[in-house]
Amino acid sequence: MSSEPLAALNRLQNALLALVEPLEEALYREQAHPQLSALGWHLGHCAFVERLWVRGELLGLEEPQADLQELYLPEHSAKTTRGERLPPAAKLCTWANKSFAETQELLRTPSSLRRPELLQADFLPNFLLQHHAQHLETMRLALIQWRLRRPCTGTRSERLGRKAWRRSEWRRLPAGRYRIGTDSRKVFDNERPPRVAELAACRLASRVVSNGDYLEFIRDGGYCSPRWWCREGWRWRERAQCTHPDNWRHHGDDWYSYGPHGAQPLSANGPLAGVNLYEARAYATWAGARLPHEYEWEAAARLGLLDDIGLAWEWCDNRFHPYPGFRAYPYARYSTPWFDGRHYVLRGSSVHSSGAIRRPSFRNFYTAEQRHICAGIRLAK
Ligand code: AVJ
Ligand code: FE
Repeated sequence: MSSEPLAALNRLQNALLALVEPLEEALYREQAHPQLSALGWHLGHCAFVERLWVRGELLGLEEPQADLQELYLPEHSAKTTRGERLPPAAKLCTWANKSFAETQELLRTPSSLRRPELLQADFLPNFLLQHHAQHLETMRLALIQWRLRRPCTGTRSERLGRKAWRRSEWRRLPAGRYRIGTDSRKVFDNERPPRVAELAACRLASRVVSNGDYLEFIRDGGYCSPRWWCREGWRWRERAQCTHPDNWRHHGDDWYSYGPHGAQPLSANGPLAGVNLYEARAYATWAGARLPHEYEWEAAARLGLLDDIGLAWEWCDNRFHPYPGFRAYPYARYSTPWFDGRHYVLRGSSVHSSGAIRRPSFRNFYTAEQRHICAGIRLAK
């Protein structure tokens, strides 16, 4: 096996540890948001997933331990109880550290494999790397939620001007047959096999929607009029009583956005994040446009038509679905349960994403009302 995916996995393992090690007890154990797990849990889960795949499936060295499985396998473990069931932080960090080192060692010199196909094209280290990358991003989202629960008032703020230099232009994607997905073996099952999509001509915005753009929607009463919203979207709006993106706060006209390190004055030119699919749709309708389909997004991204990729996940207005010929790999639960008609696709990646998951074929997926994620908008027509 080449050493590169192992080095990248090592960097991610260290990043997970470095995030958890300095945490105070409450931050380690508390659930900062109903959709998120306690921060410490992610570290244990990642170490457990490595054991499951490397020691268990690849080498057949051990069966998963029942107590670990009950805590760290999501389908066995209620989110609300994960924090209180964690071992003390120091103990978990020591165990994870040792476990990560063992994984490195076992993958460096693998022998007598039970499932050799898992090492084809370095699949397993890449799978673990990309799995951990997503949990690291989720941990950063949990830090944001933690900050939001302790609002700080001390930050100095600037007045938000009108959008200054930030201009988006329309880029034309010609009608045609486009190859979507990939036959690379280093990716998740839902990106394969590659397929051809027949697309009508469309236009996509060169840039993503900025905070300043979105503030105009808010100031125009965007959240107060059902006119811009789809039916379920308005129902959500009435139920949730939201009037701005999830990680925004304001004192009068002074707006702030919260990141993992706390609040900052909202930057008008910065990329919008913290909206759900309903808000994204409403904004697009208000702006006289629509959201892209994920195939339009991927075709345009491959042609180099899209700027700003990697600042915020971009909502696409289509459900998460399998490509023709889809085969679940290496396990059924990664993608298949979420082909349920309730999950929508997001493309690109965000400032919180590691390089391991930044590629044109990567598909993220969430339900329409989720907005604790770093997700924003690119318009299409
Ligand atoms: C695709 C980001 C929604 O974090 O729940 C992590 C990825 N799957 N462990 C998630 C995932 C299993 C997943 N998302
Ligand atoms: Fe996971």
